[in-house]
Amino acid sequence: MADDRLLMRALRGETLQVPPVWMMRQAGRYLPEYRATRAQAGDFLSLCYTPELAAEVTLQPIRRYGFDASILFADILLVPQALGADLWFVTGEGPRLSTVTGAADFAALKPAEAIHETLSPIYETVRILRRELPAEVPLIGFAGAPWTVATYMIAGRGTPDQGPAHRLKDTDPETFGHLIDLLTEATTGYLLAQVAAGAEVVKLFDSWAGSLKGADFDRFALEPAKKIIAALKAAHPDLPVITFPREAGPRYDGFARATGADCVALDTAVDAAWAAEVLQPQSCVQGNLDPQLLVEGGQRLIDETRRIVGAFSGGPHVFNLGHGITPQADPANVDIMLEAIRG
Ligand code: CP3
Repeated sequence: MADDRLLMRALRGETLQVPPVWMMRQAGRYLPEYRATRAQAGDFLSLCYTPELAAEVTLQPIRRYGFDASILFADILLVPQALGADLWFVTGEGPRLSTVTGAADFAALKPAEAIHETLSPIYETVRILRRELPAEVPLIGFAGAPWTVATYMIAGRGTPDQGPAHRLKDTDPETFGHLIDLLTEATTGYLLAQVAAGAEVVKLFDSWAGSLKGADFDRFALEPAKKIIAALKAAHPDLPVITFPREAGPRYDGFARATGADCVALDTAVDAAWAAEVLQPQSCVQGNLDPQLLVEGGQRLIDETRRIVGAFSGGPHVFNLGHGITPQADPANVDIMLEAIRG
């Protein structure tokens, strides 16, 4: 029998009266209960690697808001760490990693199949969640896409223009290509292991896809996604896959078909009327409320939420934000958003 949960129906291409809703970074610092559990864990990475606590923060927004989907609590940068990179987080600044600047650094990384040793606590989090989540709430597993993860591994941090990654791509294409291939293989293995542990949907985050232009976009955003999705679907033909080629602009057109994804997540820059006309006939779409509206609140939050629901009401849609919710968001504004969607 077909899975009749709202998220699964939308991802299969059904047009629904009320769209399923969840939020990127729904477990996060805007919630006092998250901050309390994070303090208990000590730091962000300890939280990610302590299955009971990671499961607890995953469940917190489900309990508080009754979202239609949960997303595993982890981070896209755990894969580089599992490949042997050093990883740490600087409070108020963000992630730091040891860098991959040439063939020697690449050679020091572990093979893709070695990741499970480090990542096994993440699979345990998934198993706990499958026991503890309400049956009506699907669990989304995720990973970063190879290009986005590579930008952090090459620069050793987040960068506004992904300059170091572009330079390695252009000056040492061999090492860069090897890194993309290693990440493609590791990401496939990581997502397959999440599914084996109980993830029911997977999402691939390519947060920096928009900085790849022309043929580079095809080679390093589209092709790796296509390879990963083909491997996932070969093992699990009915597994729904969401992709997020953030800031891809016109390259959103055709992305779902070319990669085999069931849904594309839209960033805040994508015009909903354009996406409804051009993208929704190709696949389900997810998005794309500006997270800043959950800081601001007020009538604009209500109006924009209703505008997005209305624009996508003629096809398959998963309501979400255009990027992660920020620590400054007011938890009460999430209730207002939900009322505007469901009320
Ligand atoms: O959506 C969810 O609730 C699931 C968990 C999740 C996190 N990160 C938790 C997190 C997911 C899916 C991610 C993805 C992620 N991580 C991306 C892709 C999506 C995007 O935002 O573009 C990227 C680029 C990262 C890397 C990363 N992790 C950065 C740049 C930062 C620092 C920025 C920040 O918000 O502080 C993180 C930390 C991080 N990942 C936090 C959370 C809840 C905040 C950590 C904390 O508690 O201090």
